[in-house]
Amino acid sequence: MFIILMSLWLICTIVNSEYRVTSTSLSEEIPAKLSSLVCCNYTFKNFVVEMALDGKTALVTGFAGAIGSTIAKTLANAGCDVIGIDRVKQKIAQKSIDEIKAGNRQDISYFECDLLKKEDVKNVSLEIKPTCKVDIIVNVAGQLTVDKVEDMTAEDWDEDIGINLTAPFLVIKQFLGSMKEKGWGRIINISSTCGLVARPSMSSYVASKTGLVGLTRAVALESAEFGVTCNAICPSTVDTPLVTKMIKDFQKTSTKSFDEMKEEYIQCLPTKRFTEASQIADLVVFLCSPAGNNITGTAIPVDGGYTTS
Ligand SMILES: NC(=O)c1ccc[n+]([C@@H]2O[C@H](COP(=O)([O-])OP(=O)(O)OC[C@H]3O[C@@H](n4cnc5c(N)ncnc54)[C@H](O)[C@@H]3O)[C@@H](O)[C@H]2O)c1
Repeated sequence: MFIILMSLWLICTIVNSEYRVTSTSLSEEIPAKLSSLVCCNYTFKNFVVEMALDGKTALVTGFAGAIGSTIAKTLANAGCDVIGIDRVKQKIAQKSIDEIKAGNRQDISYFECDLLKKEDVKNVSLEIKPTCKVDIIVNVAGQLTVDKVEDMTAEDWDEDIGINLTAPFLVIKQFLGSMKEKGWGRIINISSTCGLVARPSMSSYVASKTGLVGLTRAVALESAEFGVTCNAICPSTVDTPLVTKMIKDFQKTSTKSFDEMKEEYIQCLPTKRFTEASQIADLVVFLCSPAGNNITGTAIPVDGGYTTS
């Protein structure tokens, strides 16, 4: 048994030296994985192999949200220390913090910050800088207002632009200089399919997420020669509280039930499947891995074919 396990581990290492078996203790992890491999007839591909990001520090905004917490946990599993930022109190983010602490040997710190407040973003960054070198930024925090252009208030417009576009700019601005100095950095902005195609009654979201794709391209060009990449991920619908709220807001002007509307969202996707938060998180890790080091300035849809139709 031991020889089989060691052979599998060795094959993994040889096949791709940039990947590592996720295990702090081979004797504990591998038998468990191998037994599921054998019992459930898994293929070798399902063996838990992750990109090595040991020693990197990832700053994730929107840490307490559905997608942000999944990205943070996946980056921690890949070896990153994590700095989480969100506007919610630490006790709300505590579950994600505990899960990262329990599963990994990585450090996790959390900062409560309203990213709409420019001075607060600056102050939190000043707190982070002396103790942490930020290698990876994932701008996830976001919000969405549903209203026709003529009904949308200027305040709602400003908030959506503020959190979806200005906040990523402010965070990148704080840490890009040190990434360039080090000669390594990864910036990933979570845009949306609304960053690629428009939808009605979501003008501030469409404008801010499209702007975020523009910011991504501009940052990519300014940092391309310094070992820093900047990409946007454009998901279609992921079943999260943000989407629940969006459907409820659309329901206000519709006779359809919540479930009917949700089904419509599924049916408009060529794959007839929502995107999973974990699929976005895995792409983030891929972009941070050596395989992603020549990918920059892109806006990658993870959308079940939505933007091709
Ligand atoms: N869920 C989807 O279908 C979907 C699709 C495409 C893109 N996105 C984008 O993914 C990101 C995450 O979405 P989600 O579905 O996880 O939503 P979510 O509501 O679960 O998470 C959003 C997080 O952002 C935080 N946040 C909002 N405003 C903030 C502020 N001013 N300061 C600090 N933090 C703030 C919230 O507290 C929350 O934790 C958003 O940018 C969203 O636009 C989501």
